[in-house]
Amino acid sequence: MTAVLTGIGGFLPPKAVTNDDLSRTLDTSDEWIRTRTGIRARRMVSDGLSTGSLAVEAGARAMRSAGVTGVDAVVVATTSPERLCPAVAPEVASRLGLGTVAAFDLTSACSGFLYGLATAAGLIDSGTADTVLFIGSEAFTTLVNQEDRATAPIFGDGAGAVVLRRGEPDEPGALGPFDLGSDGALADLLAIPAGGSRQRSADAGLGHGTVPTADWYLRMEGRPLYTQAVERMTQSALAVLKRADWPVADVDWFAGHQANLRIVRAVAEELELCEERVAVNIDRVGNTLAASVPLLLNDYAARGALRAGQRVLLSAFGAGLSWGSTVLVWPEIQAEPIN
Ligand code: COA
Repeated sequence: MTAVLTGIGGFLPPKAVTNDDLSRTLDTSDEWIRTRTGIRARRMVSDGLSTGSLAVEAGARAMRSAGVTGVDAVVVATTSPERLCPAVAPEVASRLGLGTVAAFDLTSACSGFLYGLATAAGLIDSGTADTVLFIGSEAFTTLVNQEDRATAPIFGDGAGAVVLRRGEPDEPGALGPFDLGSDGALADLLAIPAGGSRQRSADAGLGHGTVPTADWYLRMEGRPLYTQAVERMTQSALAVLKRADWPVADVDWFAGHQANLRIVRAVAEELELCEERVAVNIDRVGNTLAASVPLLLNDYAARGALRAGQRVLLSAFGAGLSWGSTVLVWPEIQAEPIN
């Protein structure tokens, strides 16, 4: 038995922020952002939208795509939680009318979709669930200092979701094998120092200590991360292709985490994959962490570029550090265009 992809959906908050919009308040330019990252615009939460509401919208669309009204479990991957406690997945399940099903969050930053797929597939493999709604949802711009030109242009908000069901390993849509990895020695390259148990939120303003405002926001060391992202995604992609016994030449689409267009292209070059087989949507969404890969797949499927029977390589890298890859043959599924 294995987990099979049977539905996909995505949602982007309506507020679009262009590079020119950012340049009005930041010491940056459309030209710098476009040439260094490939990003032209991103969406940002506003008007009461947050991780949970984005997840509900994407989840509803994925269930519609799968033609189901119920599932056995809901998993949400997010690194911009609705609240530190509790997890948002139970609330998402409830708001989707799914009753008292199993529901939990997992945190793995930009590799959250790959770790989450492996976890959701594990629920199915172990016989715990026959169907799983798995959502990557992020309102990460709320954790980025919008006055920091090094990080503000890079991230965007959104949610992408898939429905998985129990099936056979040789069916289209069957997931796996997986390759997952991490390197916690480099955790500080991308981190939000305060707000957790190490630098407690109770210190803020209560006179028990001082938490500098900067520590509430993302800190990123771009250059070493760039190198790690290319190396780790390449190694992971090669490892999973070997495990799946797929030659690189058989890959129709490389759906890599949209961290930076240059990173995605560099990985493709290392893999010797031509540009026509590299899926890209970072230009209009930026880096949406756990939502990145499903939003990309939804985009390509909705406009008919990703078609049933095509072989897809998924790979992601992010904070932790953490990374992961898997493969699947794209199934016959409906995908709605995203607003
Ligand atoms: N606008 C204009 N100039 C900027 C800028 C901005 N938004 N941000 C930085 N700069 C400047 C720097 O100050 C630096 O100036 P200097 O040369 O005078 O010191 C110059 O541009 C180059 O900065 P650098 O950080 O070396 O640029 P880069 O080519 O490495 O690109 C990133 C920066 C962040 C785009 C790139 O390193 C990257 O994508 N890293 C990976 C980040 C990532 O993927 N994070 C998420 C992990 S999933």
